[in-house]
Amino acid sequence: MSTNGLRPDASRLRRLWLERRCSNAPEDCSGVWRFREFLPAFQIEQIVTLCEGNTPLVAGYRTATYAGLERLQFKHLGWNPTGSFKDLGMTVGVTEARRRGAKVVACASTGNTAASMAAYAARAGMTARVYLPKGKLSRAKVAQSFDYGAEVVEIDGNFDDALAMMVERKNSDEYFLNSINPFRIEGQKTVMFELMEQLDWHAPDFIVVPGGNLGNSSAFGKALNEMHSVGLIDRVPRMVIVQAAGANPLVRTIANGGRMLSVVANPNTCATAISIGSPRSWRKALQVISFTHGMVIDVSDEEILEAKACIGRDGIGCEPASATTLAGIRRLRNDGEMDSGAHVVAILTGHVLKDPDIILKMQQNNAAVEAKS
Ligand code: F0G
Repeated sequence: MSTNGLRPDASRLRRLWLERRCSNAPEDCSGVWRFREFLPAFQIEQIVTLCEGNTPLVAGYRTATYAGLERLQFKHLGWNPTGSFKDLGMTVGVTEARRRGAKVVACASTGNTAASMAAYAARAGMTARVYLPKGKLSRAKVAQSFDYGAEVVEIDGNFDDALAMMVERKNSDEYFLNSINPFRIEGQKTVMFELMEQLDWHAPDFIVVPGGNLGNSSAFGKALNEMHSVGLIDRVPRMVIVQAAGANPLVRTIANGGRMLSVVANPNTCATAISIGSPRSWRKALQVISFTHGMVIDVSDEEILEAKACIGRDGIGCEPASATTLAGIRRLRNDGEMDSGAHVVAILTGHVLKDPDIILKMQQNNAAVEAKS
């Protein structure tokens, strides 16, 4: 936080950030760099931005009823330049890569990190090298990486194998931009700043987020901690991390006492974005759960797809990983862990067009059912 060691004045910061919304300077138009008092310091000219952030908070109607809540809000991070929340971290990560003089940036990915990194690297004139688990991610995401000019390295295996392979192969010219990169985490923090601003700095009761490699949950926890400690919010919302049942290492870790990571050897879920068995940021995620009095749960692929269809019918749409949030909320309501009057914000992480194949497959199944009846 660049505050010269003084405790920042919360009302001054809120005013400043609001003023910047009327500015046309690129660093103010970005929903990330607008909050730069809480980001690593860079020279303004170095910033690599695509005007990320500024995503709306959308009311759910059918979805609220489906979940059993009086009201439900979605913060849709899929409405970012490359269609996922990864852009929020990538603008800072690639800016740091440029500051270091990196020529090649690299990541292992289930698709979204790769597409985002490829776009920002293209903006900065760098080579993007992406390590993807062959056949285990949405084709739309691979296409996106190609479109932004990335070098695609396909790995036989899952995401965890691709990450291990990338680290093993480490070419000295590669600057890694996976979510363990602290600069990415800093950028992703701004989701919470923008959200609280949209809520007039009144924290909701629950924030619900999908969990994969657990970088996003860690970033959100860090942001909430920082905002609370400077008085930008006066209470901390409870964080709920939702995993897919076929890729639920954090759920298992907690069930096993939380001391060691319970790796899922062969993660398998229709939500390919979060098909991760050995998440790097599991310790940080556990700290966030403890600090926010949060919860970790998992939901089946059937629950994910049903929730996804419901988000679609609300005119919002998202990719499967994002729909874990609605499925998770419904489950918590049914289990009596959440009141119907609770103020809940679900974080949608990816755009509906990120995975068109799964929609067509669901539709085919429906058509088959209709044809039979
Ligand atoms: N939702 C979507 C759409 C994602 O792409 C990811 C992660 C997550 C949720 C989970 O976030 O890893 O911070 O817990 N995607 C990574 C990728 C792994 O390579 O695109 P996390």
